[in-house]
Amino acid sequence: MADFDGKVALVTGAGGAIGSATVRLLVERGASVALLDVAESSAPALAAELGERALFVATDVSDEAQVKAAVASAATHFGGPTLLVTVAAINRTGPVESLAVEDWDRMMAVNVRGVFLPIKHTVPHMKQSGGGAIVNMCSVSAFIGSPGGAPYHTTKGAVLSLSRSLAQELAPQGIRVNSICPGWVDTPFTDRYIESQPDPTGLRAYANGLHALGRMARPAEVAQAVCWLLSEDASFSTGSELFVDGGFMIKR
Ligand SMILES: NC(=O)c1ccc[n+]([C@@H]2O[C@H](COP(=O)([O-])OP(=O)(O)OC[C@H]3O[C@@H](n4cnc5c(N)ncnc54)[C@H](O)[C@@H]3O)[C@@H](O)[C@H]2O)c1
Repeated sequence: MADFDGKVALVTGAGGAIGSATVRLLVERGASVALLDVAESSAPALAAELGERALFVATDVSDEAQVKAAVASAATHFGGPTLLVTVAAINRTGPVESLAVEDWDRMMAVNVRGVFLPIKHTVPHMKQSGGGAIVNMCSVSAFIGSPGGAPYHTTKGAVLSLSRSLAQELAPQGIRVNSICPGWVDTPFTDRYIESQPDPTGLRAYANGLHALGRMARPAEVAQAVCWLLSEDASFSTGSELFVDGGFMIKR
């Protein structure tokens, strides 16, 4: 018997590199998974590939009505979710004096409100089931800064604080809340950023060298850590940040 047999999970950003690796592992380990992502993502194709234990629900995580409806669909289809992984995020960079307010607000809406809303609407199901586990995709960016990266770092700092507060608030109900902090992960999200910079080849080599292990993470390595935190093996972990960073932080 797989450890997530009979469990219902909800994953946001499910069509992305880390989201899809997480969905695949959850399904492999027995869970039924609701894949929340925007319609033009890879999530519908992934859900179709995975079959009856995967349900795609087109959702903009920044929109409360859509998130509420998506959680309700998941609950109707599979039963109330007790596992939640918030992965959806966007990245817009630029010098502070030229950052558009619209870009700033969109980052906050997707990366912060888009973490709060799925938690808000999933927690009632967890309480009803007597407990649950939430993993928020944070980043080493919550602990450091970088020129031009202020909005992204700010949103990840917010996710960290949100996770720590909710871990305390929800502990009495048996709901654990943890964050995962990857360093650089080899994904299209990272590629898009690297390719937008003046020297992509040099930047890629520099990025690899930031990690003690000399490379970026693979999405599947992050997914393994997510599933550990969701599992009963992590029953005494809450309010923690798990670094899956190949030794990025120890080199700072
Ligand atoms: N790639 C990295 O190097 C890295 C490092 C540290 C942390 N992270 C974090 O990991 C997470 C995923 O990264 P990834 O590399 O898999 O990114 P990705 O771009 O491959 O995936 C992000 C997913 O989020 C979805 N999404 C975007 N806006 C959305 C919205 N409004 N509503 C619903 N879904 C939306 C996208 O469609 C996409 O499927 C993010 O939270 C990111 O901050 C990534």
